Amino acid sequence: MKDQKQEGASQSEESGTGERFTSSGFILAAIGSAVGLGNMWRFPYITGKYGGAAFFLLFFICMLLVGLPVLLAELSVGRGGRGNASSSFTRLGAHKMWSGFGVIIILGAFVILSFYAIVAGWTLHYAMLSFTGQLFENNDFAQQFSDLNGSWMPVFWQFIVLLLTGLIIIRGVSAGIEKVNKIFIPGLLVLLIVLCVRVMFLDGAGEGAAFFLKPDFSKLTAESAFVALGHAFLSLSLGMGTIITYGAYVDKRQSLSLATAAVGTGNIVYALLAGLIIFPTTFAFGLEASQGPGLVFVALPAAFSAMPLGWLFGGLFFVMIAFASLTSTISLLEVPVAFVREKFGWSRSFSVILLSILCFVIGVPSALSLGDKIPWLTFGGKSFFDWVDFVCTNIVLPLGGLVVTIFVGYVWKGGAKESGLSAWWLRVWLFMLRYVAPILVLLVFLYSSGIISF
Ligand code: PHE
Repeated sequence: MKDQKQEGASQSEESGTGERFTSSGFILAAIGSAVGLGNMWRFPYITGKYGGAAFFLLFFICMLLVGLPVLLAELSVGRGGRGNASSSFTRLGAHKMWSGFGVIIILGAFVILSFYAIVAGWTLHYAMLSFTGQLFENNDFAQQFSDLNGSWMPVFWQFIVLLLTGLIIIRGVSAGIEKVNKIFIPGLLVLLIVLCVRVMFLDGAGEGAAFFLKPDFSKLTAESAFVALGHAFLSLSLGMGTIITYGAYVDKRQSLSLATAAVGTGNIVYALLAGLIIFPTTFAFGLEASQGPGLVFVALPAAFSAMPLGWLFGGLFFVMIAFASLTSTISLLEVPVAFVREKFGWSRSFSVILLSILCFVIGVPSALSLGDKIPWLTFGGKSFFDWVDFVCTNIVLPLGGLVVTIFVGYVWKGGAKESGLSAWWLRVWLFMLRYVAPILVLLVFLYSSGIISF
């Protein structure tokens, strides 16, 4: 009996690097890429700013309607093409122009990594300060955060994050990326649940949980809708080539639609748990949920300092964010690594070492641009760090998403077969990719890059 369809052994099956994930390893690695600073650091403060539960609901809808169809599109391009985030397009028969778009996407991933590694570094710094108790020697947490950024420490921690990332991917897809995700992602879930249970016993925790779970639609604005969609993209790691790159390592027998559903569910569960830790803690200690990026690094230390065994829970909390960040930095570094290996025929080790060093070097100006140490690194009203974040998240990422939706929606005819969807779902998927996603993503791009405003 033939239990594998003939199409499973297409010609492209043999091409690429030949490295493959196991089925569960792939799902955990994709969840690992999705779950990161986006869920633990950015999601709480934007939810705080844009109105709590109603915003969460909006994020969920954006993820369902646009994020997941694009995720499936990226996976299909990766597995169909079996190349990197640039060559996969041309391997599927597309015009060379598409691989050019791919190169921009890959550069975006590389540059965003230099920025992401700095924030991940802050979490390691805070974990260490919390475990040693140093964090609680001085109660001015806003000052401590700005002192950190005024020092050279972010450069040191950025180096450590890239070193750890490099050491993991140098071991390859199954012994490195897959293995670490198989430990970190379940480990993260355990830590999140432990902290969640701890937080539920705080006096006044219910109010914070209600802010996060009981929607107040009067707080929604057009702006919050754009922010929610932009965040759905960032959170699912779309538009940066990571999912295309991971897709190339996926076995032909894997159901991509099932994987998409699993990643979507995983991403929302981790965001939900992060919210259920952060909001009850913030409310219980009378802190501002809408204070912006400092929420996790300024408000939460204040809460941990007032809690019995706060050093332990604080330390665990920051270690948990560091874990989540590492599984994302791994996926980001793999994007350019896959590219240079295929393009120049370099070994994995050489590619990883070279690109980690390069990424560190281009990240140093970002790390130093914080805290006014070097005045010329701030221009046009933003620090170098903010510029990198702005260009990557608001411009490259939506454009990367647009490239994939248009490619799968209009150019590549094999997407239908590669996705493995049944007729009805296929129609829904193509409708989303052709009409809904490109328009919404374009609007997000125009809005977040400042071209249109309300
Ligand atoms: N999804 C990651 C997060 O939520 C960020 C990310 C974006 C990672 C793009 C890879 C690619 O933190």
